[in-house]
Amino acid sequence: MRFENKVVIVTGAGSGIGRASALRFAREGARVTVADVNEAAAQETVRQIEAEGGTAIAHPVDVSEWSQVEALVQDTVSRWGRLDVMFNNAGIGNPPQSLLELSLEAYHRTIAVNQHGVFYGIRAAAQAMRDSGGVIVNTASVYGFVADRRHIPYHASKAAVVMMTKAAALELARYNIRVVAIAPGLIDTGIVTGWKAHPEVWATVQSAQMRRRAGTPEEVADVVTFLASDEASFVNGSVIFVDDGAASFKR
Ligand SMILES: NC(=O)c1ccc[n+]([C@@H]2O[C@H](COP(=O)([O-])OP(=O)(O)OC[C@H]3O[C@@H](n4cnc5c(N)ncnc54)[C@H](O)[C@@H]3O)[C@@H](O)[C@H]2O)c1
Repeated sequence: MRFENKVVIVTGAGSGIGRASALRFAREGARVTVADVNEAAAQETVRQIEAEGGTAIAHPVDVSEWSQVEALVQDTVSRWGRLDVMFNNAGIGNPPQSLLELSLEAYHRTIAVNQHGVFYGIRAAAQAMRDSGGVIVNTASVYGFVADRRHIPYHASKAAVVMMTKAAALELARYNIRVVAIAPGLIDTGIVTGWKAHPEVWATVQSAQMRRRAGTPEEVADVVTFLASDEASFVNGSVIFVDDGAASFKR
């Protein structure tokens, strides 16, 4: 029970990697604030946690709004008295389009959720953790390192998460707050449902992994909970690939 007496916030916890991680944190003793813009999905995650005997509350949040992220952290601390782990995981893809066709709205929304949302989460968590220490885990992506021409806004947002993680780790070390990130490869979640509808596309994106398969949200949750635990106490400012080698080779 690595998270006994710990309080954890997971954003984007209504689905995919966030839901799997929230379940895993709760299984290991944490009280979990399940935060998502989709409140019904967050409630469903809470239901699953409670069905396993865990403790969680749902909290609606749009991470692209500072006031909502600030309230998320403040409400969690008011309820449970502390914050130990902040998992800034909520994110969206952008439509796979050339930059010549992509709308400015799609560009700005991707940056607002994936980049500003993580910045707000780091900032609000740091304010809550400055006297007690803690761990902040951010979700970057292989696409923060490897380019595909049709995903420029997503690349920009995830590269920003990589560098915010390193800079925040340096800044927050004095408060004993570790800041780390994960960089998943292809993971079988709602964000890639559109690709699954086209078998050829799905086969191609799967082949970017060394063993030609998508990962599961649970395989990512294993790494997230490790990084957030004391077992990773000397891991700081690092971005850990959870990608079956996708960022390491060209087929
Ligand atoms: N699935 C992949 O292949 C993959 C690869 C690399 C990185 N990622 C990243 O993993 C993270 C989780 O995505 P996932 O794969 O589990 O997808 P998902 O779509 O299953 O889950 C994303 C969750 O974030 C929520 N969300 C979206 N916008 C939000 C907002 N503004 N505020 C709060 N919540 C919001 C959604 O409602 C959803 O529940 C994202 O940051 C994504 O970019 C995913």
